[in-house]
Amino acid sequence: MRDRTTTMSSTALTSRLFEPARLGSLHLPNRLVMAPLTRNRASAGGVPQPIMATYYAQRASAGLIIAEATTPNAVGQTYPDIPAIYHDAHVAGWRRVTGAVRAAGGTMFLQLQHGGRIGHPATTGLTPLAPSPVAFPDPIHTPAGSRPGVVPRAMTVAEIRSTVADFAAAARRAIDAGFEGVEVHGGNGYLIHQFLSEVTNHRTDAYGRSAAGRIRFAVEVVEAVADAIGPARVGLRIAPGVTANAMREHDIEHVYPALVGALADKGLAYLHVVFADPAQPLFHRIRADWPAALIANPALPWPTPLPADGGRHAGERLLAAGADLISLGRAFLANPDLVERFRRGAPLNPVRAEYWYGGGELGYTDYPVLAAAEERAPARA
Ligand SMILES: Cc1cc2nc3c(=O)[nH]c(=O)nc-3n(C[C@H](O)[C@H](O)[C@H](O)COP(=O)(O)O)c2cc1C
Repeated sequence: MRDRTTTMSSTALTSRLFEPARLGSLHLPNRLVMAPLTRNRASAGGVPQPIMATYYAQRASAGLIIAEATTPNAVGQTYPDIPAIYHDAHVAGWRRVTGAVRAAGGTMFLQLQHGGRIGHPATTGLTPLAPSPVAFPDPIHTPAGSRPGVVPRAMTVAEIRSTVADFAAAARRAIDAGFEGVEVHGGNGYLIHQFLSEVTNHRTDAYGRSAAGRIRFAVEVVEAVADAIGPARVGLRIAPGVTANAMREHDIEHVYPALVGALADKGLAYLHVVFADPAQPLFHRIRADWPAALIANPALPWPTPLPADGGRHAGERLLAAGADLISLGRAFLANPDLVERFRRGAPLNPVRAEYWYGGGELGYTDYPVLAAAEERAPARA
């Protein structure tokens, strides 16, 4: 409990959410982070489209934007129309986005995500790669509609090495595209998380068996990315115990302290914990062991309903429990001016989940901002 004043009061004037923060070498104007949100509005080839520049620039008042999960290679693609960052055309598309965000005063990282077994030949033309041949048990969305998950092929050590290299190359391209840094996605059931869990990692080589083996791939990816662009530009997202995408873990008390311990002295920008809960001892263990910035994504009802305050008070509780920054997903998705709404104590727009994954402007760039909503109100009266 670092700041009892904050726990006792959450008025706009006193909330620590509006205090500036350091992140690596960056100075952020507030502690509100836009969580990475897949919106499936890139081209079929993974090129970010101009509408994405509009969407992100609208949200530039966030202290930090972490742009949506982006694939570092072709086989890592999860779903249709997600962005990529392994080709010059991807870099050019992202440059438009980062340029628009920078012009609007924002700061942006890019999330790098390899889907592992969350992928499908109907989307990529390739058999998914994973630590072990353990099929994703649920149907998966493809351009041909919903399809049963397929059995992935176990990665060879050579494929592990080339995947690590792909992450590093993607990070270099992200910097070239104008991002301030990258977030390695180690959670939500995707490739790195699949290595961490003994349910999806049955390997008997150096990348499996014990907690020390299962964290090896995550550590190698983060180290390679840090070597490529500098550690102060690198964050890691983890989701201990989160069951998204059929993920199951039975030894989070061993795996995550081992992972955090292995990365603690690397000079990274931040660790980002999904569904963080200050009532969980593991949250406090991670906080105590992690010397750099900790971004906490509060555990809120999922997928609905989002609390009326968008997660603000849960975020303030996490700041009081030792987090440095708070990431919110659905609240930023539905409120381009979330920071201003929080400052004024204004109500939030309802979230329209039917437009989350794919489509055009509807439910994407058309959420009203406060001023516009206020101007329209008298006209309707
Ligand atoms: C539409 C949508 C897309 C998401 N895409 C991603 C993603 O690309 N990468 C990721 O790490 N998490 C993703 N998430 C999870 C969010 O980053 C966040 O952890 C989650 O929404 C919980 O935060 P919230 O309660 O503030 O919404 C997504 C969530 C939603 C609603």
